[in-house]
Amino acid sequence: MQMIPRRWAHSEPGEAVLLEEWMQKDAETSAACIGQWEEALAEYIGVPQTAAVNSGRQGLRLILEHLGVGEGDELIVPAYTLGEMLPFVASLGVKLVPADIDPFSLNITPETVAARISERTRAILALHIFGVPCDIQGIRKLAAEHNLKVIEDCAHSLGALVEGRPMGSFGDASFFSFEIIKMVNTYGGGLIASEKAELIAAARDFNEQEPKGHDSLRGKLKSVQMEKRLFKLRLMYPPLYLLASPQWQPLMNRLYRSSQKKRKKGEAYSAAQAKAGLMKLKTLEERVQQRLDRIALMNSLFHEDIRPQHVREGDRASGYFSVVILPVKAASIRKKLLLRGIDAGAGNEIMDNCAALLGYKDCPGIEQVFDHALSLPMYDGISERDCEKVVRVLNSLL
Ligand SMILES: Cc1ncc(COP(=O)(O)O)c(C=O)c1O
Repeated sequence: MQMIPRRWAHSEPGEAVLLEEWMQKDAETSAACIGQWEEALAEYIGVPQTAAVNSGRQGLRLILEHLGVGEGDELIVPAYTLGEMLPFVASLGVKLVPADIDPFSLNITPETVAARISERTRAILALHIFGVPCDIQGIRKLAAEHNLKVIEDCAHSLGALVEGRPMGSFGDASFFSFEIIKMVNTYGGGLIASEKAELIAAARDFNEQEPKGHDSLRGKLKSVQMEKRLFKLRLMYPPLYLLASPQWQPLMNRLYRSSQKKRKKGEAYSAAQAKAGLMKLKTLEERVQQRLDRIALMNSLFHEDIRPQHVREGDRASGYFSVVILPVKAASIRKKLLLRGIDAGAGNEIMDNCAALLGYKDCPGIEQVFDHALSLPMYDGISERDCEKVVRVLNSLL
């Protein structure tokens, strides 16, 4: 039985050969290509300038430094986000305070953020989780009333819109990620978007100072090719089965995340990556639309007890993930789906309960949904037939 994967890194035809060619020519084309990529993204996002950096989290670090958020300051972060960012930000001396999420949109809200504002709060990290926009206008208004900065985490939301306006254009600064499963995959890398010219200049300087090289790009390209081969040869069942087994899940998840971290080398964002990005940005709109069509199809077929992530009227998600909330715990369903040839994600395979990681017990929204969230297969090119199968099997398991 051919498995339906949960994720499938996007690549354009002939991409591996092109990347090899581009890496050879990198030194000649570097500054001009990266400049073109930054300009194309500035136009897409609707900001005056952007700066390419080597990861989303590096982007966040540069933004925090530039906004003067440091030792002794408080940063409000979502209770549901990537836990690996926490120690990284905390190492800057910043105290992280989680804002609870709305159990329907899975996003922070102006109300949950307001409940966390103190005299020491300096900024709000507003994530559009799984590509669904949070109420960024409400959060901006609240921030203005308290003289706080808003940083948009757009790691999932390239292609998402609020009232037709792209995410990343609302905050004081925003950052994006181009990791392998992101909406635009440049085999790692990130971006800062902001109206603040000095921040953009500092980020560009930083990227120029980083060591040049393609070890990271090559490593990621190889791991994507390997994963695709393993799926095709049906050899992904054993590791996924271990990941789906409660007694092995923590170890397997740690192994997976540390292998990802090892590939995150401190190398400058390269011209080869920028060229890949320029090629993939051209197909982004079409890919977003196709993902949203598939998500709409699945949502129309779910059993009434399965709750898809809520998108506010007038907003457009990016279609990054298809996450649903189940009436039962997701881990056991995830294992049953795998035995029926469908890969899904549960618990911290999707995102982390950062309220718990930070020692806060007063976030009922995340407590309510964390164990019940299930991430279903969603990637560029997933067929209608596979989406229908996923829903049919999931419905039957409930
Ligand atoms: C919510 C969120 N924020 C930030 C990041 C960091 O991006 P990067 O891996 O490029 O550092 C990620 C990465 O997956 C993420 O999921």
